[in-house]
Amino acid sequence: MKLFHEKEGNPEGNRVFLVRRIEDLPIDPFLPSEKEYIREKIEDKRNLVVFYRLSYLEFVMVLPEKDDAEGLEAGRKLGDDLWGMLKNERNRNLTVIDVAAGEKMTLAVTEGLVLGSYTFANYKVKEKNEVKTIGEIRILSTLISAQAMERFHVLMKGVMKARDLVNEPVILLNTPALAESFRQMAAEAGMQAEVFGKKKIEALRMGGLLGVNKGSIDDPAFIILEWNPENAVNEKPVVIVGKGVVYDTGGMNIKTGSYMDDMKSDMAGAAAAGSAIYAAALARLPLHIIALIPATDNRVDGNAVVSGDVLTLYNGTTVEVLNTDAEGRLILADALAYAKKYQPKIVIDLATLTGAAARAIGKYASVAMHCGAEDDFARLKCAGDYVCERIVEFPLWNDYQELLKSEIADIRNISTGTEGGAITAGKFLQYFTDYPYIHIDIAGTAFTTSRYNYRGLGATGVGVRLLFNYFLSYL
Ligand code: BES
Ligand code: MN
Ligand code: ZN
Repeated sequence: MKLFHEKEGNPEGNRVFLVRRIEDLPIDPFLPSEKEYIREKIEDKRNLVVFYRLSYLEFVMVLPEKDDAEGLEAGRKLGDDLWGMLKNERNRNLTVIDVAAGEKMTLAVTEGLVLGSYTFANYKVKEKNEVKTIGEIRILSTLISAQAMERFHVLMKGVMKARDLVNEPVILLNTPALAESFRQMAAEAGMQAEVFGKKKIEALRMGGLLGVNKGSIDDPAFIILEWNPENAVNEKPVVIVGKGVVYDTGGMNIKTGSYMDDMKSDMAGAAAAGSAIYAAALARLPLHIIALIPATDNRVDGNAVVSGDVLTLYNGTTVEVLNTDAEGRLILADALAYAKKYQPKIVIDLATLTGAAARAIGKYASVAMHCGAEDDFARLKCAGDYVCERIVEFPLWNDYQELLKSEIADIRNISTGTEGGAITAGKFLQYFTDYPYIHIDIAGTAFTTSRYNYRGLGATGVGVRLLFNYFLSYL
């Protein structure tokens, strides 16, 4: 991504004029007849108009009047529409001219453009030349502050990093490779990284992570990223936990049919947590943040965990495993119990945890639950609405706890029925917490199988924009 910000200058080549009303358009370069043409289009709700000049394209984008959540999302989608029209051009550079859009709306449009033009094409070999990527983006605006521009830039880097990590197949991005990726991101962003290997994880008795890892030929990893700047505004850290199942076959309760197809995405929570703290560190945000990422694949093997096994987790709780495909909560439980040692202000986990969450509300929002975290939940919800990575609250009523009763251990890893699957999973996780806690199930939002506007095809990078904007609420 090549992104430049200029306060003044003359655009060369492809350009888009961002306006709110036709009257905002400069006298040049549009003929009165062209303005009339634009007016007709707007009346037909076509808010993006293109003129094919001799050697470049000239777009006019008429944006909503308000910079509220709805208006900004419309701006992002128009940015993505613009990419759809620019994509087949030979020259894919573009100047974004802020005529009357202002900081927020201009960045929202650019966001749609940048994220919509993302492609994961590492493995297009024979058709390499057909892969279309955007060229240089030049923003021409006097209204965008240097700080807003910098934050926008690193946030886009973060989202694309998360998408790359999720889209990468497990054959290349196994547990050691994921740990190495996070190490590199930490080095680049100047944050601390520590990776616990199998010996250390054994010494800590993280029985959930070790149990799920038993069917794997790769060692597990417990990755800790920390951004602790001197000017941090918070005394107690904000801890983010991400589910890092680099591949979920289901284990001995193996996934059948096509249910396994997209399970390289089962580390999307880890990708979001790691990429959000990466962006926060790159932006030098004055906030103390820690990311905890338990990582392994969930596979079938001679020694893999089976139904009926009992695992002893990090905090000493015993868990009866009654479905090896409910593996995410086992590794997250170790991480959540471990998080206590930081005396966190808040712990937020992100996980592709249950098909039930996806079935409940689809790809339109993530399912979230909280316990003793009213204030942070409100901040997070507000941040989610703002960037359109919405969260919807589900309850964590104690009534659900009885569904997790085990005859032979402290708790079982799946509920006795199938009702409320997203909630019983959340309830299981809550059992390992004793601090303000928010759980976000991104099973429905992390990955798409058909293109979904600027969220793209495949990994969406969900969670990065949500968390980053939540971080900003503290500054
Ligand atoms: N990773 C899956 C959840 C998932 C499913 C994410 C589809 C994204 C798309 C998780 O580990 C899982 O397999 N959950 C089971 C839980 C069940 C066994 C209680 C599920 O949802 O079926
Ligand atoms: Mn599973
Ligand atoms: Zn899983």
